Amino acid sequence: MKLLAFLFACALTCSQAAYAQQEPILIRFSHVVASDTPKGKAAERFRQLAEQATGGRVRVRIYPNSQLYRDREELEALQLGAVEMIAPSLSKLGPLGAREFQVFDLPHMFPDWAALHRVTNGPVGEGMLQRLRLKGVIGLAFWDNGFKSFSANRPLNTPSDLAGLRMRIQPSRVLDAQMRALGAQPMTLQFGEVHDALAAGVVDGTENPPSNFYTQDLQEVQPYFTVSNHGYLGYAVIVNRKFWEGLPPDIRRELEGAMREATRYASSIAQEENDQALAAIRASGKTQIHVLTEPEREAWKKSLAVVSADMESHIGAELIADIRRAIASP
Ligand code: LMR
Repeated sequence: MKLLAFLFACALTCSQAAYAQQEPILIRFSHVVASDTPKGKAAERFRQLAEQATGGRVRVRIYPNSQLYRDREELEALQLGAVEMIAPSLSKLGPLGAREFQVFDLPHMFPDWAALHRVTNGPVGEGMLQRLRLKGVIGLAFWDNGFKSFSANRPLNTPSDLAGLRMRIQPSRVLDAQMRALGAQPMTLQFGEVHDALAAGVVDGTENPPSNFYTQDLQEVQPYFTVSNHGYLGYAVIVNRKFWEGLPPDIRRELEGAMREATRYASSIAQEENDQALAAIRASGKTQIHVLTEPEREAWKKSLAVVSADMESHIGAELIADIRRAIASP
């Protein structure tokens, strides 16, 4: 009888172990924007591709809209292994000790998508992602959102229109310097707080590509939007290093392939998503849109030119030079 009980217990343990072996590997992917944005859609595409390519051995669960963690918390959660994958904006990697990514915040650094992609898809971008290994995370890819515009509770046609305004920024010294160069008062707030802070008048304005503006309903709280395209907003998709290096090699290969495909997809939809969002902001009738004329844009460029020189030692002169070379060599 004792033997029978022993065998029964063994069988139970063995079947539990076999079940455990079949449990899919879970990737919890947390992000702060709406699902209906370039990042949200690319995350969903990655989920589909990863699950398909691994025949269901991997499950990806996406938590959008700061539903699990906000900006600062998601970085900590990744390092602690509470989530496996995040895609913070390049402006937010400072707490990892990777402030050189703030080079992407320099105003008017990238004249167009082609120039930007020569950096993010080329050896300079690859080198930057590689160096994240030293910070305990693996940088898998750069994902695009788009070019940022300013918005506020008053019209912004000339750079001096920002003087004295409290402007919400992401946690980046370069963005801080950018707002100060315009005479504005920068205020760092987490993305999930922006709508309410604008509604309450804690800040007067902000900057983001149209997709983030529209999907956060900022047309309800920002009567003026100036299409300035003065800076880039993109992401680094990063994973917990221990998790990634502990994956079976065949699974990791499939996931890398899924990530490459999702990255191509993100680039292919980014501009269109932002164009559609801008049209939707206009159609809302709540926010007046001003598109800078070429002479107006030149005036903004002139006012912001000091930022690159001032931030050179913060970012690293060598990296800035490498990026400028990549931009200039089609
Ligand atoms: C912001 O905080 O403004 C953006 O970086 C949010 C995002 O992830 O696009």
